[in-house]
Amino acid sequence: MKQSILRNGLNNNPKPILLIGASGELGGALATHYATLGAALCLWGRDADRLATIANACRIAGATRVDVRSLDLRDVDATIAAIARDDDTEPFDLAIIASGLGDIKAVGALVEDAAQVAQLGLVNFVAPSAIAAELGARMAKRKLGKIVIIGSAAAFHALPFAIAYAGSKAGLARFADALRINLRPHGVFVTLVSPGFIDTAAARKVAGPKPMLMSPARAARLIAQATQRGQAHLITPWPFAFLRLVDRALPRFARDWLLRALTPPGR
Ligand SMILES: NC(=O)c1ccc[n+]([C@@H]2O[C@H](COP(=O)([O-])OP(=O)(O)OC[C@H]3O[C@@H](n4cnc5c(N)ncnc54)[C@H](OP(=O)(O)O)[C@@H]3O)[C@@H](O)[C@H]2O)c1
Repeated sequence: MKQSILRNGLNNNPKPILLIGASGELGGALATHYATLGAALCLWGRDADRLATIANACRIAGATRVDVRSLDLRDVDATIAAIARDDDTEPFDLAIIASGLGDIKAVGALVEDAAQVAQLGLVNFVAPSAIAAELGARMAKRKLGKIVIIGSAAAFHALPFAIAYAGSKAGLARFADALRINLRPHGVFVTLVSPGFIDTAAARKVAGPKPMLMSPARAARLIAQATQRGQAHLITPWPFAFLRLVDRALPRFARDWLLRALTPPGR
């Protein structure tokens, strides 16, 4: 039973899949993807109305069961307690952390606002890392589980106009990779996903060109495939993997020049 949901996302009596950030567009697309496979879902988000809407859509799409939890991830202690409660009630074999906050420096600002830097650190690094640690320890005891962490291709580059976003996602990427190595001998797979641009309202709010823009539905399908394979790292679309190599290979002065040249005017 346990193995089949990990392979297929399908089961006659499936364990719920935990989806954090389900009220968002990528999270919603992931929820719908698994709903069409007949999964049971535990959807977490903050906006209760959007969560209710996506929960209804998932029921219509074929989810066998949908539970929702609305909470603010910035309250990290409450978040960890909620993970423990939900996992005690019914253990998760698969958890996808697709929450996140985007931001770029305001026009004319010298650096990003300190309070905003703190918010991004909490939502993009502290909360997802703590959730993954709590779930990882629990899954390791059961010798079964998959944790998927949605990072960003922004983590590959020291973006001077999105310092907090690039920095928090880079920290999350390193955490995910280390956790993967830590947990693999205990039967737990950790998959890091580093997407380029996905066509969501959050992405559209950020000015500038968005090459190789992907639909949330396509991103969700690719993430589900990588999850099924237990892939260590999905970088999508693939040219972002090439850009990562270029960033690493360039001498510092050339890389700094390029990143300054890519900075939108006024930022
Ligand atoms: N869109 C892109 O181009 C792109 C590219 C690379 C990586 N990503 C990553 O993909 C993930 C999803 O992005 P998206 O574009 O789908 O963004 P989105 O629609 O804004 O979704 C973000 C999700 O995070 C949740 N969230 C934010 N702050 C929260 C908080 N304090 N407490 C609880 N939940 C909170 C939101 O909940 P509420 O809406 O309920 O507040 C929402 O469910 C993020 O990690 C993002 O960094 C996106």
